[in-house]
Amino acid sequence: MNEYDIINFENRLMANVFAKRPLVITRGKGALVWDIKGKEYIDCMGSYGVALLGHSHPKVVEAVCKQAETLISCHASLYNPKRTEFLQKLMSITPKGLNKAFLSNSGAEAVECAIKLARKFTGKPEIIAVMGGFHGKTMGALSATWDKKYREPFQPLVPEFKHVPPDNLEKLTEAVTDKTAAVLLEPIRGEGGVRVPPDEFLPGVRELCDEKNVLLILDEVQTSFGRTGKLFGCEHWGVTPDVMCLAKPFAGGLPIGITVAKEPIMSSFKVGEHSSTFSGSPLVCAAACAAIDVLLKEKLAERAAALGGYFKAKLEDLQAKYKIVKEVRGLGLMLGVELRYDVLNIILKAMDRSVLILDAGRNVLRFLPPLVIEKEQIDKVISVLDTVIGEEENERTSGAAAN
Ligand SMILES: Cc1ncc(COP(=O)(O)O)c(C=O)c1O
Repeated sequence: MNEYDIINFENRLMANVFAKRPLVITRGKGALVWDIKGKEYIDCMGSYGVALLGHSHPKVVEAVCKQAETLISCHASLYNPKRTEFLQKLMSITPKGLNKAFLSNSGAEAVECAIKLARKFTGKPEIIAVMGGFHGKTMGALSATWDKKYREPFQPLVPEFKHVPPDNLEKLTEAVTDKTAAVLLEPIRGEGGVRVPPDEFLPGVRELCDEKNVLLILDEVQTSFGRTGKLFGCEHWGVTPDVMCLAKPFAGGLPIGITVAKEPIMSSFKVGEHSSTFSGSPLVCAAACAAIDVLLKEKLAERAAALGGYFKAKLEDLQAKYKIVKEVRGLGLMLGVELRYDVLNIILKAMDRSVLILDAGRNVLRFLPPLVIEKEQIDKVISVLDTVIGEEENERTSGAAAN
């Protein structure tokens, strides 16, 4: 099938819910992907943060192939050694005290489980999330997600969710009532524009939750697995949540969701109160075991910290050079560049020049590259950005002059 047919068939046969870019990707290796015509791209989208180990990491490929020949599916009502191995590896890296998991298939599912768990464990209904937060698009997760363009068409959502201004401990404290089961937050808001909270915020939330007997759920779907320079985003502030939601990169590119909680909290679920047909399939667990091994062996969190610092400094140079660049934010290899204008043009121009970039809202460029990205590849990304931001600035200022 040629490029034209592929684009047409996908547009016709698949729900039109994705903001599609006119690009057909057929192959990936490390931080590179190739389109159907063989053109190479540096992938700073990283499949929305999934391809953290790099595309088709050989260890993941090997583990998946081997497991596929042995056993692909095994319902969680039966035991399986790959699942056990994965759970043990998982608990060896999760923050201390988070030691019992529910396995699912996506970030939204990990959040759904956390919401149910908070209600079941506390016997209280209310969940407090923040304005600008993103937690997925299934009905429970969507009720915690802030953006009204995602929420409004689907009202009424799940009751007893409320949103408070982000990074504001005072407002959060005022919002907690004796009906509150949990506070649900991303340590760094990803979709909301790559926003890192002030240093005192998360420790303050932890203290508040302890004092008011409210659970702290951290949605680490985007910030975990070394992405921000630590294994989990919460480690930057020395905070351990009661429940943590994980997904994206944990199975080396295969679908996975994980809700990990303190044992008494997870044990409040009784048999049948929550489940998923694919929970902990051997194939996904084999991939996830390999992914954790690679993460630790290749010291990818340390690599994200070092290369992220390098990348961020280069982005800050661009901020100093161009007026249309307002701010550079982020930690490790989770970086955002806020512009004074829409970023779509820049994203499309960068794509033409072989660099794939994500957005985070209308005016933020977001970078979630594989942590195996090379320094030279970052230099290439910066050089392309220099060109396309420069062009955009020229167009904007000459347009303004002409007006
Ligand atoms: C913080 C956060 N939570 C939840 C989700 C939802 O994950 P999924 O798309 O796998 O359902 C995302 C997805 O981007 C996310 O960034």
